[in-house]
Amino acid sequence: MNYKLEAKHNLQHSSRIKETESLDKLIENCQTGFSNQFEENCSLISYAPGRINVLGEHTDYNNGLSLSGAINRWVVVGISKRRDRLVKAFSSNFNQLITYDPNSKIQDNKAWRHFIEGGCRIMDSVYNISSGYNLYIIGNVPIGGGVSSSAALCIALLRGIAHINQIQLSDKNLATLASKVEHQDVNVKSGLLDQYSSVWGQKGHLLSLDFKYQTCSPISFKSDQYAFLITDSKVKRALANTAYTDRVQETSLALEMLKEEFISIANFRDIEEKHLGLISELTPRKRLRHYISENERVIKGVGAITKGDYKFLGELLNESHDSLKNDYEVSCNEIDFLTQKLRDHDGCLGSRIMGGGFGGCCISIVKVEQINAIIQATSQAYEDHFELTPDFFLYDLVDGANVITQDFFADI
Ligand code: GLA
Repeated sequence: MNYKLEAKHNLQHSSRIKETESLDKLIENCQTGFSNQFEENCSLISYAPGRINVLGEHTDYNNGLSLSGAINRWVVVGISKRRDRLVKAFSSNFNQLITYDPNSKIQDNKAWRHFIEGGCRIMDSVYNISSGYNLYIIGNVPIGGGVSSSAALCIALLRGIAHINQIQLSDKNLATLASKVEHQDVNVKSGLLDQYSSVWGQKGHLLSLDFKYQTCSPISFKSDQYAFLITDSKVKRALANTAYTDRVQETSLALEMLKEEFISIANFRDIEEKHLGLISELTPRKRLRHYISENERVIKGVGAITKGDYKFLGELLNESHDSLKNDYEVSCNEIDFLTQKLRDHDGCLGSRIMGGGFGGCCISIVKVEQINAIIQATSQAYEDHFELTPDFFLYDLVDGANVITQDFFADI
């Protein structure tokens, strides 16, 4: 399952492409790990995938559009209820056990505990639950790799808690609650891109997401000749969260300014290029220019994929990067260098920064037969320039989050 993309494209195995376990293997390891850790079987397993984003960056928190997809990297959570109110969570990736006591102020200091505590707390308060859990968490979504490992963890955890307590939780509510965990407990006022992609993923499809109407249209992506190559720059900016919050505030202030001037503007989606002239300050004008042009690129990108026009899709990726770099100002030297090097190669049709920005990843549309050559040329140049070794990933597009209950285990 996990090597399908490479098999499908008959790629010469590149040592630079990171490999991964299948979902079945992760589930099996989760069951075994749970039993070893807690000396009982888990009652259910909940899993959620990471995501890529082809177009539509920094649009989600302003009711915009995106074109994303769920990928064959998952966070898998094994759960059973405890008799007391404690939450004991073991992370296989960090090899750490945390204990969360909702009645005690003294908590653990591990970074990933925020998601567990926040997830349990929000479910307790919204659904008035008072249960403790044993949790075993395992996964292969690259942590901090720009493909939303934290959203996958929150989605898997919340869906698991809902299921074990027999709570009906719609996909939209699940996504909203998971994003609130990031808002309240991690203090990033992000949109719903990561959560919707993880929940609504469809095998072999990208997702055309509309955050104003909270809708998702699957767009089939099938090509033997072209693939999305993800490059992790390995750059992590400590101030990325602050800068992200600045962008949220800047755009929200710019909207308020326009609302006062134009009765026709109630929402970000009502803003058109012609309105921007009224904003005297350059920065908010540039931010909104990115928003408008990026939404247009999503619409054009959906058309390009539907027609199989990957050359045009590549141009849209390049334009998106330029807009994120110059108008939204969320790129950095390393990513600018990488996207340029990637674009310089014949086999790359376009490349742009992906995700929140200030480091992280870029996404490129590339010719499959030239992937190894692209990787070689890009990584060599990047290493020479920045003394950093980039990671490269090819992903399959997969179905969204789900739960497996005990009756099912017998069949696995
Ligand atoms: C991060 C956030 C998303 C989205 C992207 C930028 O990944 O979690 O909600 O805003 O940045 O498009």
